[in-house]
Amino acid sequence: MINKIESIGTTSTGKIIYSSDDCQDILSLPVTKIIDVFKPSGVIIFRGFGVTHEQMKAFAALFSSKFVQDYKRPQVDSDKFIHFVDAGMENCVPHSEHAYSPFRPDAVWFCCAFPAAQGGETTFCDGIRVWEELSEETRQLFISKKLKFYYEDIPAVVLKRFTSTDAASTDDIKRMLDGLEGVKYEIKEDESASMEYVSSAVVKTKYSNQDAFANSVLALHAITEKVAFEDGSIVPDEVIEEIEKTTDRLMEHISWQAGDLAMIDNSRFMHGRREFNDQRRQIFSTLSNLKF
Ligand SMILES: [Fe+2]
Repeated sequence: MINKIESIGTTSTGKIIYSSDDCQDILSLPVTKIIDVFKPSGVIIFRGFGVTHEQMKAFAALFSSKFVQDYKRPQVDSDKFIHFVDAGMENCVPHSEHAYSPFRPDAVWFCCAFPAAQGGETTFCDGIRVWEELSEETRQLFISKKLKFYYEDIPAVVLKRFTSTDAASTDDIKRMLDGLEGVKYEIKEDESASMEYVSSAVVKTKYSNQDAFANSVLALHAITEKVAFEDGSIVPDEVIEEIEKTTDRLMEHISWQAGDLAMIDNSRFMHGRREFNDQRRQIFSTLSNLKF
């Protein structure tokens, strides 16, 4: 049973669920009640349960149809579904996880083994509110133009991870890619692939079917400075500035305590990180598709 539940901050829909004397094991929380809280809130922090990264995965499995690999991050379990996220200590701008690819997961899970002494908070903002607060001109821009992403030389071994088996054949990979919306691809003789992915920056949320500005525009802009639309034009600097100001204004944060677990709706929320300067900070993540 859930004894104590609070809102995160004063404006967020997000909730904190606390352990209690009669419930200190995260795995004994009632799944259906958690789902009822998660659907409208989109972010839940579980506090006081002393969650380890193994427990995070076991708990996530109760809600998930499938884990999604993040092959760019160091993996810490034998299935390669738990990742160590602490690459660098700098600020990370808000983004939805893997929104630049057709393999975007429904949920992002984080657990904290050791918080930074100062800073290092995970930030998050509600894409529904960001979309509501962008100017009409910017909204029209993102309604009229989709974003385009292009990838070359994707190794077959990477694409196999997104099929149901590591033993996938080229035909299995083609079947998987054929089933994805917005994807055009070419598989070369050495089985590597090139892929074009077209996707709107404004997406429908999984649980309320509302428009949400939940994407990787700011994160890609921080890396490339050129985020492209389908027609080849670039997202203008003044639009990037408007998105930055809007997300800054709406940003909430998780001040980590050791043993915290966070469950975030990746179809609605963007998340990021405040900078820190503490080598001891340890946060783990896993990504999954939800089965409810
Ligand atoms: Fe992320």
